[in-house]
Amino acid sequence: MDRLGSERRARRLARPRTPLPAAPRRSRRRPQKACLVIRPAVLADLPALTALEQELFGADAWNESLIRQEIEGPGRRFVVADDLSGYAVTMTAGDIVDLLRIGVRPEARRSGLASRLLDELLVDTDDASRMLLEVSVSNAAALGFYVARQFSVIDVRPHYYRDGSEALVMCRWLPGAARTPTATSHD
Ligand SMILES: CC(C)(COP(=O)(O)OP(=O)(O)OC[C@H]1O[C@@H](n2cnc3c(N)ncnc32)[C@H](O)[C@@H]1OP(=O)(O)O)[C@@H](O)C(=O)NCCC(=O)NCCS
Repeated sequence: MDRLGSERRARRLARPRTPLPAAPRRSRRRPQKACLVIRPAVLADLPALTALEQELFGADAWNESLIRQEIEGPGRRFVVADDLSGYAVTMTAGDIVDLLRIGVRPEARRSGLASRLLDELLVDTDDASRMLLEVSVSNAAALGFYVARQFSVIDVRPHYYRDGSEALVMCRWLPGAARTPTATSHD
């Protein structure tokens, strides 16, 4: 190859390559385990739930005795996936349902499991006016989940968590809100 030809070739090689076409976007939703049953937690679940709490919430995890109180406590509903890959707990007082916990094992996420747990806890809440929860501003996954599940931010609690981060108070209105005279407009 002559000098001109080899210069041309060198320039061609130096040119930025055309970017590869983006890979087709696959749905991020993982296949749902068809036979997964959502059921009330029982005391035999305590060891597995304590381990999962620790894995998901670290320093803020409930210990076994607190989890037992949540399973047995008044006004509580504690549901689990039967393979214990996820769980959720609410406490109802008056017309308010507090979502105290919802958690899914990392490898089971984005398959709709938290949504199924939440749906189970929403059954028979027609007399309540709202479901409330607190979530750290830095918990992007939970925020994404709650927004997708019709919760909206109604308040901020500064220095709420052990690490000093603030909590957002989020609310999902329930059918009973329409019958509560004190409920303000929420549309
Ligand atoms: C938050 C959490 C419970 C969600 O569980 P999940 O089983 O993955 O949720 P789902 O599969 O039902 O997600 C339903 C929708 O919520 C939204 N969502 C869920 N995870 C999300 C994320 N990481 N980022 C953005 N949006 C998200 C999406 O819209 C999702 O629908 P899609 O998968 O079709 O896009 C899970 O990430 C978790 O256990 N986190 C650690 C524990 C925690 O922080 N709990 C909340 C505080 S108590």
